[in-house]
Amino acid sequence: MALLGPSGGGKSTLLRCLNGLNTFDTGQIRVGEHVLRSGPRHGAEIHGIRRLFGMVFQDFQLFPHLSVLENVIEAPLHVQGMTRSDAVERAEHLLQRVGLGSHLHAWPQQLSGGQKQRVAIARALAMQPRGLLCDEITSALDPEIKHEVLRVLEDLKRDGLTLILVTHEMGFARRAADRVVVLCDGRILEDGPPAQVLEQPRTERMQMFLQRVLG
Ligand SMILES: Nc1ncnc2c1ncn2[C@@H]1O[C@H](COP(=O)(O)OP(=O)(O)OP(=O)(O)O)[C@@H](O)[C@H]1O
Ligand SMILES: [Mg+2]
Repeated sequence: MALLGPSGGGKSTLLRCLNGLNTFDTGQIRVGEHVLRSGPRHGAEIHGIRRLFGMVFQDFQLFPHLSVLENVIEAPLHVQGMTRSDAVERAEHLLQRVGLGSHLHAWPQQLSGGQKQRVAIARALAMQPRGLLCDEITSALDPEIKHEVLRVLEDLKRDGLTLILVTHEMGFARRAADRVVVLCDGRILEDGPPAQVLEQPRTERMQMFLQRVLG
């Protein structure tokens, strides 16, 4: 699912609510069998939901004092209690999958933005989530480097991972998404398959948004 829409529309807030980083005042969020309820505090359900989703951010948020491999084994070791050898085996496999098999012992500051973002994706996958929540994860990258990250996302989708991504990459949303949801002023403005939402939007507001972003 691609989440699109104007700045301030509520895209990041929605992702943060889904992952329990924000609370919310009304309504409820259902993820599989889990239900998150409104209110100032989360109940125990949030732990189940956090196990289902990994989150990837625009600014990578890698641990700068840890190598690539150590970034990826950190949570499996300390949150899931895996043995070091199992965690390393899983991490090596994931890093190969995102094209970084030869950078296991590099430091984050030695990597390009696209490489850092692929480490962040591998790190999120190391917790074996059902899905990833991605908030503008290619926005800080050079146009040429974006593609290496988008390609990884398409691979993951093909393997059945659920992806909910906030993106301004219209071409990517059109090609790769099954569903496009447009948020504006905290509400859903459009919701449907990409061909419909991006080529025949129902609302004038969406037509205006598309004119602006497509130039
Ligand atoms: N807990 C909250 N209570 C009320 N309003 C909030 C809360 N959290 C965020 N907002 C407001 O919700 C609006 C949506 O912000 P959000 O960051 O989700 O937008 P966005 O769609 O991600 O925008 P951008 O494309 O610029 O990243 C903003 O006006 C923000 O100030
Ligand atoms: Mg945002």
